Amino acid sequence: MQPMLNIAIRAARLAGNAISSSLENKKSIEVKQKGKNDFVTNIDLYCEELIIETIKKAYPDHSFTGEETGVHNGSNTEYRWIIDPLDGTFNFIRDIPHFSVSIALQVKGRTEIGVVYDPVKNELFSSIRGTGSKLNDQRIRISSVPQLTSALISIGSRKDSNNYSEKIISESYDIRRLGSAALDLCYVASGRTDGYIENGLKPWDIAAGELIAREAGAICTDFNGSAQYLKTGNIVCSNVKLLREILKNLA
Ligand code: IPD
Ligand code: CA
Ligand code: CA
Ligand code: CA
Repeated sequence: MQPMLNIAIRAARLAGNAISSSLENKKSIEVKQKGKNDFVTNIDLYCEELIIETIKKAYPDHSFTGEETGVHNGSNTEYRWIIDPLDGTFNFIRDIPHFSVSIALQVKGRTEIGVVYDPVKNELFSSIRGTGSKLNDQRIRISSVPQLTSALISIGSRKDSNNYSEKIISESYDIRRLGSAALDLCYVASGRTDGYIENGLKPWDIAAGELIAREAGAICTDFNGSAQYLKTGNIVCSNVKLLREILKNLA
């Protein structure tokens, strides 16, 4: 898996550098509205193509699913790269320096590699399943904060179907809404936050970050405690004790 991780890192850094350079010439950024609360720019599209092209050079038969260009099947559909070329597009558009490139490799549907790169802070989170997680070259580990009253929780959602945000705001130590799901998961992985909750996500938002979080010791579930979060798009992520308390608040 290491050679594939190296390619994923190369692709993530190339895309990250392209995103950073585009911010030096803001006039080159073209913004389009894609759907309700969803924007896309020419940089999102350019980066998705760049990532696919970079990986394809090394693995021409592999398959891809990207947020902006959809499904590209190669002759080998058992190896599928799940790509969010720019996670946090709205932060990017508003010049808020918090966004990332997210690349995961699934083999027969199971995530084996995850890379999330924050080009502004030059922070690269990565993992190969079974080997732990790293931030740049350092191993990372989740926090052990056991109860909600002491916990810093990032809440992703604005599409809040059961008012959990209000409950979590009142029960937790504090909350953040940072704007990049992939980084939200990596911040749990590195102990910067203690937990993360969001609904209505897509596989490319979370496929890389959830592996990085789990390999750093986190448990991820959907809102009823099952492992179906990649399908339902609803995810809770934290250490096991805190997770139980969060799930009670979501019930
Ligand atoms: C979005 C970000 C954001 C989350 C949204 C996602 P995008 O991804 O991950 O944090 O709250 O639901 O759509 O559109 O910037 O790639
Ligand atoms: Ca989007
Ligand atoms: Ca995203
Ligand atoms: Ca995106």
